[in-house]
Amino acid sequence: MKTIVFFNNKGGVGKTSLVYHLAWMYADMGVNVVAADLDPQANLTSMFLDEDRLEELWPDESHTDTILGFIEPILKGIGDIAYPHVEDVGDNVGLIVGDLGLSVFEDKLSDAWPRCHDGDEAAFRIISAFYRILHKATESREADLALIDVGPNLGAINRAAIIAAQHVVIPLAPDLFSLQGLKNLGPTLRRWRSEWRDRLKRNPNPDLILPGADMIPAGYILMQHDIRLDRPVKAYGKWMARIPSIYRESVTAESAAVVPTLDKDSYCLSTLKHYRSLMPMAMEARKPIFFLKPADGAIGAHMYSAQRCYTDFKELAEAIAGKCGIVLP
Ligand SMILES: Nc1ncnc2c1ncn2[C@@H]1O[C@H](COP(=O)(O)OP(=O)(O)OP(=O)(O)O)[C@@H](O)[C@H]1O
Ligand SMILES: [Mg+2]
Repeated sequence: MKTIVFFNNKGGVGKTSLVYHLAWMYADMGVNVVAADLDPQANLTSMFLDEDRLEELWPDESHTDTILGFIEPILKGIGDIAYPHVEDVGDNVGLIVGDLGLSVFEDKLSDAWPRCHDGDEAAFRIISAFYRILHKATESREADLALIDVGPNLGAINRAAIIAAQHVVIPLAPDLFSLQGLKNLGPTLRRWRSEWRDRLKRNPNPDLILPGADMIPAGYILMQHDIRLDRPVKAYGKWMARIPSIYRESVTAESAAVVPTLDKDSYCLSTLKHYRSLMPMAMEARKPIFFLKPADGAIGAHMYSAQRCYTDFKELAEAIAGKCGIVLP
């Protein structure tokens, strides 16, 4: 099983849209996928599921079939994770349903982190809860791949979600905020990795299934949907030109004598287009852009763009598979 998290602490760069589209694309390529919504905003869940189903999954009383339900025994201090339900959302696609209540886990995770250092088994169970849920969920569906969506911050929920991942893909926008975000994100990832590696040595229970300290950066995706047409292209060019060197300095911590330009950078997994009105059309139809049909409103040039989107995502899925060692059928 491979696990990949899509992460940038800058909000709105397109993490959730990427996880949604890539889940459908990998499934279409014959890979059995579980998408995990570990963002308390639960946007990924609302992309996959309609309101009627959400009402069933999020009743007024306790939520047994969402991520909150699976960690509830831990939150109440009465046991370990519950067996996770995986929502069947399509051929080869399962969803670990998100929950707006997940944010209550933040304090518990913050408190457990230093206690792992003291060899406290309960703390290890808390920190590894997401990983063990993913493990059980993928095992139950015999899935090959888990794609994780997280919120835009460097908090304790994200630390636990990212520790659960073997690979990290970083979506970026060509602007000052994204590059500043990258400068915080890279060192934070490295610190989390080394702190987790240090804690792993203190795990008192060898039978506990724990994630390794992987979190290997797989590369970045340049997202162009934030580009405003009323600004000169030059303004974006300046930020794009800086990405390869800032990625190396901040994320991979390598000192390259010659830094390639973005179009030749092996860390650049894709420069993804602005799909404009196709994105809201896809959300409305509750399907990825590349599966839109004329009946959904994708007529004429839209249909052509939707087909191009299929190629864009297929190439992106192949690039990520290459970096993360995913075997494509
Ligand atoms: N390639 C694209 N083309 C057009 N619109 C896009 C594209 N990618 C994302 N968007 C739009 O940009 C907005 C933000 O995207 P999304 O919610 O995926 O970002 P996010 O990084 O998950 O945000 P958050 O940080 O809040 O979790 C959404 O309205 C989405 O529809
Ligand atoms: Mg999101």
